[in-house]
Amino acid sequence: MTEIPTGAPTGARADEPDPAQAPGAAAFPLTRGCPFTPPEGYRAMREEGGLTRAAIPGGKHAWLLTRHDDVRAALAHPAASSDARHPAFPALGDGEQAVAAELRPFIRMDPPDHTRVRRMLVGEFTVKRVRAMRPAIEEICAEQVDHLLAQPTPADLVGEYANRVSTTVICRLLGVPLADLEFFRRITSVSGARGSTEAEVTAALGELFGLIDRLIDEKAAQPRDDLISRLVTGPLARGEITRQSLLSQIGITLNAGHETSRNMIPLAALALLHHPDQLDRLRADPELWPGAVEELLRYLSVADVIPLRVAREDIPVSGGVIPAGDGFIALLAGADHDPEAFPEPERLDITRPQRNHVAFGYGAHQCVGQNLGRVEIEIALRTLFDRVPTLRPAAALADLPTRSASAIFGLDEVPVTW
Ligand code: HEM
Repeated sequence: MTEIPTGAPTGARADEPDPAQAPGAAAFPLTRGCPFTPPEGYRAMREEGGLTRAAIPGGKHAWLLTRHDDVRAALAHPAASSDARHPAFPALGDGEQAVAAELRPFIRMDPPDHTRVRRMLVGEFTVKRVRAMRPAIEEICAEQVDHLLAQPTPADLVGEYANRVSTTVICRLLGVPLADLEFFRRITSVSGARGSTEAEVTAALGELFGLIDRLIDEKAAQPRDDLISRLVTGPLARGEITRQSLLSQIGITLNAGHETSRNMIPLAALALLHHPDQLDRLRADPELWPGAVEELLRYLSVADVIPLRVAREDIPVSGGVIPAGDGFIALLAGADHDPEAFPEPERLDITRPQRNHVAFGYGAHQCVGQNLGRVEIEIALRTLFDRVPTLRPAAALADLPTRSASAIFGLDEVPVTW
């Protein structure tokens, strides 16, 4: 089990001497032993009170929350700030905080700015609108399974399927022409990697913003039926958002929508292949798919370390108090594997009755694209397993390289055969 530097006892102030600074002290983030389950250290943190002080990159400290009740209470607390401009903001990547503070994507804003921007986008992701996108998503997944099947085996489920599906879906929604499928993979692999410097993140996003900037002009001149056209002819034309902010908001939506499904689809496929009893049940009764997607979201919780916050005031949680002025991270995989909320949390059970997972976060920033995410994951997995019934892993689980250094958890490659 990995030791987390609990440092000062839970509930202590940030300015007290901190043993976590001792040379050799383990640091957060922790890595997953098995790609399906949270780092082993989360269990100990939860059992020790669920409020743990840890050393994070950049010489800072943050409080880690691992209990389901605490994660929800803290993320819903009005004093929980997402503003990356605060010095205590617990960014895990070198370039992440500086770039977020400068570009101000709405995921890193507080009300009323956050509310204003989110309102502009929320209508794009309603259940009704996502339902209307189903045929297009089905067509995209069918085309990409054709592509996968045309590859020699073993083929990589990430590069030859999931990345292609997630990129095509998000680009279709936004109205971004798909010249280069590798373009987004390259950008997000830099912007979402913890080791990227501020200069590297800025350069990668500069390329993306250049593309979006040109699209804004094109769509203003000739609007189409897509998200960017609607934002350009609506809020931008009415002066409700600046062009610079619009660039950031489109950029974060592209990034978030691409990276999450790209990682979730192959990991979920692999989880089902390693739980053949669950896959057999889905094959026998396709009505079980929506519930299976919820369970896979909980079980895998790929956005584990996305909710980064600063407590503007003291925030009480079950294990103590997050002191005003300190950063905290609401660990979604910790919450989603809390046995108090999900009995036998390490068991994948597609008919699990508990659906109150926090894989999409909780509170004001809860994933704005969740309806799309659910439908995309379901169709991508169903199409894959329907069309490739003999699909099987072509490498041992322990040999797969994990993307532990990226903001969204995933696997670099998932070799499969059929
Ligand atoms: C597997 C699928 C997905 C997962 C697990 C996921 C997870 C999350 C989480 C945990 C948050 C909350 C961040 C926070 O509290 O700080 C979030 C926010 C967000 N997500 Fe997703 N997401 C998924 C799919 C998508 C898709 C498909 C899109 C867009 C097309 C998207 C766009 C966004 C945006 C723009 C936000 C910021 C919302 C806000 O701050 O108000 N996500 N997502």
